[in-house]
This record gives sequence, structure tokens and C-alpha cells, in this order.
Amino acid sequence: MDELGEMVGTSSAIRAVFDLVRKVAKTEMPVLITGETGTGKELTAHAIHERSMRREGPFVPINCGAIPETLLESELFGHERGAFTGAVQQKKGKLEAAAGGTLFLDEVGDLLPSLQVKLLRFLQKGTFERVGGHETLHVDARIIAATNVDLKAAIDKNLFREDLYYRLGVMHVHLPPLRERGEDTLLMAMLFLKQAAALHRKSIRSYTPEALKALRSYHWPGNVRELSNRVRRAVVMAEGPEITMHDLDLSDETFHADDSLDSLRAAHRRIEVELIVKAISMHQGNLTRAARDLEVSRSTLYRKLRAYKLERLVPAHLSYPVAVGD
Ligand SMILES: Nc1ncnc2c1ncn2[C@@H]1O[C@H](COP(=O)(O)OP(=O)(O)OP(=O)(O)O)[C@@H](O)[C@H]1O
Ligand SMILES: [Mg+2]
Repeated sequence: MDELGEMVGTSSAIRAVFDLVRKVAKTEMPVLITGETGTGKELTAHAIHERSMRREGPFVPINCGAIPETLLESELFGHERGAFTGAVQQKKGKLEAAAGGTLFLDEVGDLLPSLQVKLLRFLQKGTFERVGGHETLHVDARIIAATNVDLKAAIDKNLFREDLYYRLGVMHVHLPPLRERGEDTLLMAMLFLKQAAALHRKSIRSYTPEALKALRSYHWPGNVRELSNRVRRAVVMAEGPEITMHDLDLSDETFHADDSLDSLRAAHRRIEVELIVKAISMHQGNLTRAARDLEVSRSTLYRKLRAYKLERLVPAHLSYPVAVGD
């Protein structure tokens, strides 16, 4: 299966993201990562850092939405001694901590206008001052920012600076929601199941056919994080050898009809991958049986597994040693 560090996926939507990430990683430009909650924005930021020239340097995350406004400026840019009550000594901020590496500004849409100005200046000139400081400092840090709010709408409401948006978004990586990643849902469901089962020492290897159908048609508002949580919980809850819809806490009402159109090629690929994942899941990794169900030879199934980069679904001793990643 295609992967980027810890990121898995084989759908065309996510492969396009992986390609972009590989390109973006080689540059020094700021990156803006957008996507719904739980789509993998932090994981992507990390993957970019790990593939950049700065990989030996620090990766410093800061959540702009989680820190009180009054503290954020000093957290980010540091402060001088006596800058405010309680500033008993000089303190370096996250930006300085990210020297030689990457500063990950999560929920950048929550930055106050005054800090947006300060960030913009850093992006343009590489300079800033600590809170209460007069000395202009330089630091070599790459900025990766992420948001799950619509920054364009925030710009319209004068909550986000347009010039900052264009500075940050020169390189823009958008993570599609899980419901638009076709076969990836089942693929990840299988991998998360393998991991959780190993962790909890339970011999669950597959899902019931109804559970697979539910996984496929649920709309996943919480995206990959929700999938991973539901599967982990289901593994703990499950009493039988297979995970049921009930274990996943999914019901018929949660299904939604998928009325989007696919190209024939994409549909062909999606259906093949889905059937292969299902067959291998149902036969717990036994390729001979899976091939028999699919009415193809074992070697055809092998070939398809390789073509779709699905080798990881098969127990280690059966899989081909194929290099994945880039
Ligand atoms: N492609 C992927 N393959 C495997 N795991 C993934 C993938 N994408 C996301 N995850 C997992 O899903 C969870 C959520 O990912 P992450 O924290 O990067 O999302 P996020 O977009 O930053 O979410 P939020 O908007 O809520 O902060 C993590 O546990 C992460 O490891
Ligand atoms: Mg996040």
C-alpha cells in the first residue's frame, strides 16, 4: 500500500496528496494544510518535516486555539525579563525553539489580528521581537500552518488577513475527508484492527459483512480519528471472532447514500480493491481461499495485491518484499 511515514492510503485522492507532500517537502516555503477535523493534518505536517532538509532539526507544534490569547504571543515569540507581571526572566518562544527545523502552527485561524501581523512580518523578513524586547531577532524556522476553518470566510469577515493567507498558502495541501477516499476506509479499518487486536491480544481478524458495509457507507464526520477510535473500541468490546456493526456502534440510520459519480476507471479500481480487502478479511489473510472466492488464481491475486499496494493486508510470511513509500 502506498504510504507516507505513518500515513496510509491507496485511493487516488490520497495518492495525489502524498505526491504533493513529497514535492512540498523539498522546498523551504511555508505550507498551509487544510481539511476537516481528524483528516490527518498534524500527521501530514510531520511527514513534510520528516522529508525535508530540516528533518534533523526540531519539529515544534503549537496549537493557536488552545492557548489563552494573553499567553500566545509570549509562547510563540518569547518574552524579555519584566515584559509583564510574572515575567521574572527572559524566555524563548516556540519560534526560536524551532530554529533549524519546523514550527507547526495548528489552528492558525485562531490567531489574533495583532499576532497575524507579527507572523506575516516573520514570513516576509524572517525577523521578530520578543514580547517587551527591542532587539530585532532572526531565526531560521520553516512555518507549516493548519486549519479546519474556512479561512476565506474568515477573510470576508475581517477576522483573517488576506495577505497572510496568501503568504501561508503558496503551498496548499488539502486533505480530503475520509468519505471521499473510497477504498481507504476499509483498508485503514483492516490495519487499525490488526494493530488493536495485537495490542489487546485478541484473535479478531475480520469484520462481519454487515460491519464492512456499514464502514463503507457511514459518512465519518470525525474522519480518520473517528475510524481509528471506533475500531479500537470495537476490538475491546467484541465478544465474537468478528467485529459486528454493534461493536462499531454503527446503525442503519447512520448510513448515507453515496450519489457521487466516479470515472469508470476509478470505479473499477475501487470495486476491485474493496472486494479484495473483503475477501482477504473474510479469510483472515488466507490468499488461497480469498482467490477461490474471487474466482481468480492465486498468482493473479498476488499481482493485484502488488498493483494496488495492498501487501500489508497479508501476514508477513506471505507478502512480497516490496519497497513502499517513495
Ligand atoms: N492517512 C492516515 N493513515 C493512518 N492514520 C491516519 C491517517 N490520517 C490520520 N491518521 C490518524 O488519525 C488521527 C488524526 O490525525 P491528525 O491528528 O493528524 O488529524 P488532524 O487533521 O490534525 O485533526 P484535528 O483537526 O482534529 O486536529 C491520528 O491518530 C492519526 O494518526
Ligand atoms: Mg490537528
